[in-house]
Amino acid sequence: MKTVIVYYSYGSNTKKIAEMIQKKTGADILRIETVTPYTGSYNKVVDQGQDEVNRGYCPEIRPLSIDLDQYDRIILGSPVWWYTFAPAMHTFLKSQNWKGRTVYPFATNGGWIGHTFQDFTDACQGADVKPGMNIRFDESTLRTPVKDIENWISQL
Ligand SMILES: Cc1cc2nc3c(=O)[nH]c(=O)nc-3n(C[C@H](O)[C@H](O)[C@H](O)COP(=O)(O)O)c2cc1C
Repeated sequence: MKTVIVYYSYGSNTKKIAEMIQKKTGADILRIETVTPYTGSYNKVVDQGQDEVNRGYCPEIRPLSIDLDQYDRIILGSPVWWYTFAPAMHTFLKSQNWKGRTVYPFATNGGWIGHTFQDFTDACQGADVKPGMNIRFDESTLRTPVKDIENWISQL
Protein backbone atom coordinates (compact mmCIF):
# COMPACT_ATOMS: atom_id res chain seq x y z
CA MET A 1 0.00 0.00 0.00
CA LYS A 2 1.39 3.40 -0.97
CA THR A 3 0.44 6.54 0.92
CA VAL A 4 0.40 10.17 -0.16
CA ILE A 5 -0.50 13.34 1.71
CA VAL A 6 -2.39 15.83 -0.46
CA TYR A 7 -3.12 19.20 1.08
CA TYR A 8 -4.16 22.74 0.34
CA SER A 9 -3.02 25.62 2.53
CA TYR A 10 -3.80 29.28 1.97
CA GLY A 11 -1.76 30.43 4.98
CA SER A 12 0.57 27.86 6.48
CA ASN A 13 -1.37 26.02 9.20
CA THR A 14 -2.41 23.07 7.06
CA LYS A 15 1.07 22.95 5.50
CA LYS A 16 2.59 22.70 8.98
CA ILE A 17 0.41 19.73 9.88
CA ALA A 18 0.94 18.05 6.50
CA GLU A 19 4.69 18.31 6.99
CA MET A 20 4.41 16.93 10.52
CA ILE A 21 2.56 13.90 9.11
CA GLN A 22 5.14 13.56 6.35
CA LYS A 23 8.01 13.49 8.86
CA LYS A 24 6.35 10.83 10.98
CA THR A 25 5.10 8.58 8.19
CA GLY A 26 7.62 9.08 5.39
CA ALA A 27 4.67 9.31 2.96
CA ASP A 28 4.94 11.29 -0.27
CA ILE A 29 3.47 14.77 -0.15
CA LEU A 30 1.73 17.03 -2.64
CA ARG A 31 0.52 20.60 -2.25
CA ILE A 32 -2.52 21.76 -4.21
CA GLU A 33 -2.10 25.25 -5.65
CA THR A 34 -4.56 27.46 -7.48
CA VAL A 35 -3.56 28.83 -10.86
CA THR A 36 -4.75 32.28 -9.75
CA PRO A 37 -3.46 33.07 -6.27
CA TYR A 38 -5.76 34.66 -3.69
CA THR A 39 -4.64 38.25 -3.19
CA GLY A 40 -5.57 41.22 -1.04
CA SER A 41 -6.29 41.50 2.65
CA TYR A 42 -7.27 38.52 4.80
CA ASN A 43 -10.80 39.91 5.09
CA LYS A 44 -11.08 40.19 1.33
CA VAL A 45 -10.06 36.55 0.96
CA VAL A 46 -12.58 35.56 3.65
CA ASP A 47 -15.33 37.29 1.62
CA GLN A 48 -14.14 35.83 -1.68
CA GLY A 49 -14.00 32.41 -0.03
CA GLN A 50 -17.59 32.78 1.18
CA ASP A 51 -18.77 33.63 -2.31
CA GLU A 52 -16.86 30.70 -3.84
CA VAL A 53 -18.12 28.19 -1.26
CA ASN A 54 -21.72 29.41 -1.66
CA ARG A 55 -21.52 29.04 -5.43
CA GLY A 56 -19.75 25.67 -5.26
CA TYR A 57 -17.03 27.29 -7.36
CA CYS A 58 -13.99 25.15 -8.18
CA PRO A 59 -10.93 27.27 -9.01
CA GLU A 60 -8.48 25.92 -11.55
CA ILE A 61 -5.54 24.20 -9.85
CA ARG A 62 -1.99 23.68 -11.11
CA PRO A 63 -1.23 20.34 -12.75
CA LEU A 64 -0.33 17.73 -10.12
CA SER A 65 3.35 16.91 -10.06
CA ILE A 66 2.92 13.25 -9.15
CA ASP A 67 0.76 10.50 -10.59
CA LEU A 68 -1.85 9.78 -7.93
CA ASP A 69 -3.00 6.52 -9.48
CA GLN A 70 -0.17 4.71 -7.73
CA TYR A 71 -1.53 5.49 -4.25
CA ASP A 72 -4.35 3.63 -2.54
CA ARG A 73 -4.13 5.49 0.77
CA ILE A 74 -4.60 9.24 0.66
CA ILE A 75 -4.30 11.63 3.58
CA LEU A 76 -6.23 14.79 2.71
CA GLY A 77 -5.73 18.12 4.45
CA SER A 78 -7.56 21.40 4.03
CA PRO A 79 -8.30 24.52 6.01
CA VAL A 80 -12.00 24.97 6.79
CA TRP A 81 -13.51 27.70 4.63
CA TRP A 82 -17.05 28.58 5.56
CA TYR A 83 -17.75 25.26 7.30
CA THR A 84 -16.35 23.03 4.54
CA PHE A 85 -13.05 22.31 2.78
CA ALA A 86 -11.46 25.08 0.70
CA PRO A 87 -12.58 25.46 -2.95
CA ALA A 88 -9.16 24.32 -4.25
CA MET A 89 -9.62 21.03 -2.38
CA HIS A 90 -13.07 20.77 -3.95
CA THR A 91 -11.46 21.03 -7.42
CA PHE A 92 -8.98 18.30 -6.52
CA LEU A 93 -11.62 15.97 -5.06
CA LYS A 94 -13.69 16.25 -8.23
CA SER A 95 -10.67 15.40 -10.40
CA GLN A 96 -10.06 11.98 -8.84
CA ASN A 97 -11.60 8.53 -8.99
CA TRP A 98 -12.07 7.49 -5.37
CA LYS A 99 -13.23 3.92 -5.87
CA GLY A 100 -11.35 1.44 -3.69
CA ARG A 101 -9.18 4.01 -1.98
CA THR A 102 -8.79 4.71 1.72
CA VAL A 103 -8.98 8.35 2.75
CA TYR A 104 -7.82 9.95 6.01
CA PRO A 105 -9.02 13.56 6.15
CA PHE A 106 -7.83 16.31 8.45
CA ALA A 107 -8.94 19.92 8.63
CA THR A 108 -7.40 22.93 10.33
CA ASN A 109 -9.78 25.60 11.53
CA GLY A 110 -10.53 28.28 14.08
CA GLY A 111 -13.14 26.24 15.94
CA TRP A 112 -16.01 26.01 13.46
CA ILE A 113 -15.53 22.77 11.57
CA GLY A 114 -19.13 22.72 10.27
CA HIS A 115 -19.88 19.88 7.84
CA THR A 116 -16.32 19.55 6.51
CA PHE A 117 -15.88 15.85 7.24
CA GLN A 118 -19.34 14.90 5.96
CA ASP A 119 -18.43 16.79 2.78
CA PHE A 120 -15.19 14.78 2.41
CA THR A 121 -17.20 11.57 2.70
CA ASP A 122 -19.74 12.78 0.13
CA ALA A 123 -17.04 13.96 -2.30
CA CYS A 124 -14.98 10.74 -2.17
CA GLN A 125 -17.65 8.42 -3.56
CA GLY A 126 -16.57 4.78 -3.38
CA ALA A 127 -13.70 5.40 -0.95
CA ASP A 128 -13.42 4.17 2.60
CA VAL A 129 -13.31 7.57 4.32
CA LYS A 130 -12.00 7.34 7.87
CA PRO A 131 -13.13 9.68 10.68
CA GLY A 132 -11.58 13.12 10.27
CA MET A 133 -8.98 14.78 12.48
CA ASN A 134 -10.10 18.23 13.59
CA ILE A 135 -7.11 20.50 14.24
CA ARG A 136 -7.73 23.82 15.96
CA PHE A 137 -5.63 26.93 15.49
CA ASP A 138 -6.02 30.46 16.85
CA GLU A 139 -4.61 32.37 13.89
CA SER A 140 -1.24 30.62 13.56
CA THR A 141 -1.08 29.18 17.09
CA LEU A 142 -1.81 25.46 17.29
CA ARG A 143 -4.46 24.76 19.96
CA THR A 144 -5.01 21.03 19.48
CA PRO A 145 -2.48 19.18 21.68
CA VAL A 146 0.43 17.83 19.60
CA LYS A 147 -0.02 14.52 21.44
CA ASP A 148 -3.55 14.17 19.99
CA ILE A 149 -2.20 14.76 16.49
CA GLU A 150 0.61 12.27 17.03
CA ASN A 151 -1.87 9.67 18.28
CA TRP A 152 -3.95 10.15 15.16
CA ILE A 153 -0.86 9.89 12.93
CA SER A 154 0.21 6.67 14.64
CA GLN A 155 -3.11 5.06 13.62
CA LEU A 156 -2.75 5.94 9.95
C1 LIG B 1 -11.98 32.13 3.47
C2 LIG B 1 -11.82 31.62 4.88
C3 LIG B 1 -12.89 31.05 5.51
C4 LIG B 1 -12.76 30.50 6.79
N1 LIG B 1 -13.84 29.88 7.36
C5 LIG B 1 -13.69 29.26 8.56
C6 LIG B 1 -14.77 28.50 9.14
O1 LIG B 1 -15.85 28.35 8.56
N2 LIG B 1 -14.57 27.92 10.35
C7 LIG B 1 -13.37 28.05 11.03
O2 LIG B 1 -13.25 27.49 12.13
N3 LIG B 1 -12.32 28.74 10.50
C8 LIG B 1 -12.44 29.33 9.28
N4 LIG B 1 -11.37 30.00 8.72
C9 LIG B 1 -10.05 29.95 9.42
C10 LIG B 1 -9.16 28.85 8.82
O3 LIG B 1 -9.85 27.62 8.68
C11 LIG B 1 -7.94 28.55 9.73
O4 LIG B 1 -7.24 29.71 10.00
C12 LIG B 1 -7.01 27.52 9.05
O5 LIG B 1 -6.18 26.92 10.01
C13 LIG B 1 -6.14 28.17 7.98
O6 LIG B 1 -5.31 27.17 7.38
P1 LIG B 1 -4.15 27.56 6.36
O7 LIG B 1 -3.18 28.46 7.11
O8 LIG B 1 -3.53 26.26 5.99
O9 LIG B 1 -4.77 28.26 5.19
C14 LIG B 1 -11.50 30.57 7.47
C15 LIG B 1 -10.43 31.22 6.82
C16 LIG B 1 -10.57 31.73 5.54
C17 LIG B 1 -9.39 32.38 4.87
